[in-house]
Amino acid sequence: MNRREFTKASLATATLAALSPALAGPEHLIRKAIPSSGELLPVIGLGTNRYGVDGSEVARAPLRDALRRFHALGGTLIDTAPQYRTSESVLGELIAELGTRKDLFIATKTDKSSAEEVAAQMEDSSLKLKSPKFDLMQVHNLIAWKTALPVLREWQQEGRIRYVGITTSRDTQYEEFETVMRQEKLDFIQINYSLEQRGAAKRILPLAADLGVGVIINRAFGGGRIFDAVGNEPLPDWAAEFGCESWAQFLLKYAVGHPAATVAIPGMTKVHHVDDNFGAAHGRLPDASERQRQEAFFDAL
Ligand SMILES: NC(=O)c1ccc[n+]([C@@H]2O[C@H](COP(=O)([O-])OP(=O)(O)OC[C@H]3O[C@@H](n4cnc5c(N)ncnc54)[C@H](OP(=O)(O)O)[C@@H]3O)[C@@H](O)[C@H]2O)c1
Repeated sequence: MNRREFTKASLATATLAALSPALAGPEHLIRKAIPSSGELLPVIGLGTNRYGVDGSEVARAPLRDALRRFHALGGTLIDTAPQYRTSESVLGELIAELGTRKDLFIATKTDKSSAEEVAAQMEDSSLKLKSPKFDLMQVHNLIAWKTALPVLREWQQEGRIRYVGITTSRDTQYEEFETVMRQEKLDFIQINYSLEQRGAAKRILPLAADLGVGVIINRAFGGGRIFDAVGNEPLPDWAAEFGCESWAQFLLKYAVGHPAATVAIPGMTKVHHVDDNFGAAHGRLPDASERQRQEAFFDAL
């Protein structure tokens, strides 16, 4: 390619990125580093608490399509859990069909009380996900964390878990969450954070930044409820300055725009939601004053 062709191709890519962020290509994704390793993750991942469907093709086809699109757009982190009914086995089977496991970063959880049960549950998850090792294993809602974390570390030593973390989505757990963060060496925390629920930003997110812990944001849409709150309200004009074309992108860019946030994991079971949400992984993220403006705008709705 000569220089003129290169310039033309670059302009075409830039125009495409400006016009249609989700179609601009994985190489344009905004990525953030996992603090404990420097490994980069695209800022939009996938939450799967609605992937616990039955074995019928009718139930699985839309999820396969959503997973295919997620991969095509460059998505890597998928979060699941034994608590999400059949979600782990549905994911294991669909990912095997799509042949995409090697490109993915699979995060699941443990919620058992004894060391033996934790180990047995992880073996079971490994079989269901068809994955001999996990990219991330998290203690779900801090359940039996004192017992579970040593087992997770053993598996990490053996190379069957790459990263270890804890999760919550309830502010009633924040105090204990903070204690565990201070006591244990964690790679990740996962926590709820959105324009509607900003409690994590008081102490937990700054602490994660201080300790060098990666942050996965769950429920950036409040489980979908936020869309009722914003209703048919138009986006403010200035949202376009940091590349937002939809409320979902406005909400996601707010969440992953927090300096401590590594990745958000919106739940999505539909291809058009995947397309929309990947718009938030393109362009740029809002800075501190733009995020304050987002808060003021949301609060005034
Ligand atoms: N304690 C924990 O560890 C914990 C707790 C809660 C959640 N989580 C994790 O976090 C993930 C996210 O939480 P969540 O799924 O409960 O809530 P969420 O991400 O806040 O909201 C998901 C809802 O938003 C909808 N949605 C997605 N993209 C949209 C778009 N662009 N426009 C309009 N609607 C859109 C989804 O619809 P469709 O499904 O129809 O696409 C779904 O109904 C979970 O899936 C799970 O992996 C972890």
